[in-house]
Amino acid sequence: MTVEFCGIELAHPIINASGTFDAIAARRAFGEELIERFPFAAFVSKTVTLEPRQGNPPPRLWELAGGLINSIGLPNKGLRGYLEHDLPELATLPVPLIVNVMGSSRDQVAELVSAFAAREEVAALELNVSCPNVETGLLMGADPAEITALLDRVRPLTAKPLIVKLTPNATDVPAVAVAAEHSGADAVSLVNTVRGMALDPRTGQPWLGGVTGGVSGPAVRAIALALLRAVAQAVEIPIVGMGGVGRGADALDLMRAGATLVAVGTESFRDPAAGLRVSAELLELLANSAV
Ligand SMILES: Cc1cc2nc3c(=O)[nH]c(=O)nc-3n(C[C@H](O)[C@H](O)[C@H](O)COP(=O)(O)O)c2cc1C
Repeated sequence: MTVEFCGIELAHPIINASGTFDAIAARRAFGEELIERFPFAAFVSKTVTLEPRQGNPPPRLWELAGGLINSIGLPNKGLRGYLEHDLPELATLPVPLIVNVMGSSRDQVAELVSAFAAREEVAALELNVSCPNVETGLLMGADPAEITALLDRVRPLTAKPLIVKLTPNATDVPAVAVAAEHSGADAVSLVNTVRGMALDPRTGQPWLGGVTGGVSGPAVRAIALALLRAVAQAVEIPIVGMGGVGRGADALDLMRAGATLVAVGTESFRDPAAGLRVSAELLELLANSAV
């Protein structure tokens, strides 16, 4: 089931979705068994920002019938902390490392891309553009012109594959994908979470500390599938599909719609070995569908 993605050879098409599998914590919990049977063909880090972030005030999660709403707010150690503490440990994983970065200005993203361009431990970069550009007030990933300007700035800074992670909270997601492709992105990934909200039944006020949050899990699967198909019809570059994948059949659906790789996110909270299970189920489905 080996697959080639942007010049990187992977053992199978299943990777993790950023922020949903902490490989360092998992290694502490499961020991070397995790390394011997690593659940994913590549490891995608949670979002790294230039400065450390505390994340959003609690509560940070609301469980839905079909998934989660999270308002975690991207807590992380910042670039320096990541380079010092996380990167050396993540570099020992038995799979290629994809680092996910986010900035609130083009200069910040450029600084992050430059820093990782110099690190041979990093196979590729994923740009999380679900963030407003403080200079323009526009959500970077919601506007094709913003994406063009961002890639014009950062594309020359690295030869490593650049994956633009698309937000579903945009009017015309395929137009954003086309802008990314035309400006030199090597791949796109989709979907990031869908904006949602829950009210505290006792008070009628927003439950989440961040007021709104991102919906993920089975609830977004149909949205992801429709957007993936629309993006696949608009671009030639490879696509990483994600959104509500919990079984091999869900991964196969996204591949049939045009994904080269599929990421497992929320499902890993229920089942830390979900990546292994989904890839085994997918292999079986692919073998049967070839007959
Ligand atoms: C708790 C949680 C944390 C997440 N953190 C990040 C993150 O740090 N960076 C990012 O680009 N996406 C993040 N995501 C979005 C996921 O990578 C993924 O795009 C989304 O959850 C849809 O996939 P799923 O339905 O399989 O979870 C997060 C999602 C969840 C549920």
